[in-house]
Amino acid sequence: MTIRVCLAGISGWAGSTLAKGINQTDDIEVVAGVSRQQAGRSLSEVLDLANIKGIISASAEEALAIPCDVFVEYTKPDVAKSNVLAALRHGAHVVIGTSGLTDADYAEINEAALQQGKGVLAVGNFSMAVVLLQKCAELVAKYIPQYEIIDYASAGKKDSPSGTVRELAYRLSQIQPPQNIVPIDQTQGPLESRGVTLNGVQVHSLRLPGHVISAEVLFGDLDQRLSIRYDAGISAEAYVEGALLAIRKVGTFVGLKRGLDSVMEF
Ligand SMILES: NC(=O)c1ccc[n+]([C@@H]2O[C@H](COP(=O)([O-])OP(=O)(O)OC[C@H]3O[C@@H](n4cnc5c(N)ncnc54)[C@H](OP(=O)(O)O)[C@@H]3O)[C@@H](O)[C@H]2O)c1
Repeated sequence: MTIRVCLAGISGWAGSTLAKGINQTDDIEVVAGVSRQQAGRSLSEVLDLANIKGIISASAEEALAIPCDVFVEYTKPDVAKSNVLAALRHGAHVVIGTSGLTDADYAEINEAALQQGKGVLAVGNFSMAVVLLQKCAELVAKYIPQYEIIDYASAGKKDSPSGTVRELAYRLSQIQPPQNIVPIDQTQGPLESRGVTLNGVQVHSLRLPGHVISAEVLFGDLDQRLSIRYDAGISAEAYVEGALLAIRKVGTFVGLKRGLDSVMEF
């Protein structure tokens, strides 16, 4: 059976690439989309795809009048929560790609999902390579408890550290918090030179032209080093495969799950 998707943020950098990825599958189809600026135009015209039907709506509430199985949230943090709650009220499962929702937002979303008997899958980074970075780093952190993280991004990226690195620091801290030989507060010189401490992990953020998004975990052990690094390219292609997996899996459980690895087998 085909999974019908309503895609909020369909004209965006990530949403339009996902819509084109969906169009190449046999089991998922986009039936509705949301964009204020493209409202009233056909999906086919906006996405430059011949074999897709439907009109873009200005709001999630309007788009949800068209029956769908899965609502994909790929807009902006300020409207994401209300879009998700509207989708649950309309009886759709929800995949959240938008970043910036708080833990309190997720608690409310989980409550609503449980009440409606629907699944919500929130994924801060749909890249399969990032999931593998997380899993490999978690494995190494079990054995090498001395590590720090470097967060690289373009000069214009305002939020720091990136959501991907925040999640990485949290995950590694849950495996084994790093052991600093010199406690950070006993540093001689500016404490800032040791980066920011997130969940007990030192994180160093660089914002430079010529960079996109990279994350590197550096492990240090007796007379040896190991580093694991992820580098994103400039397109949104890297996020398509994971988002398709999320759309296929979100109907298989009830309530909120966070992270793509929560629906993958390792
Ligand atoms: N999870 C992941 O792997 C992943 C990957 C990439 C991006 N993201 C996140 O996904 C979100 C979107 O990123 P992006 O780079 O695609 O942004 P973008 O290019 O600015 O696209 C945003 C989309 O949302 C629509 N939109 C924005 N505000 C809206 C509103 N109030 N009501 C209805 N539609 C609205 C925009 O259309 P209109 O302006 O015409 O309304 C556009 O279609 C961000 O939070 C980003 O951090 C996550």
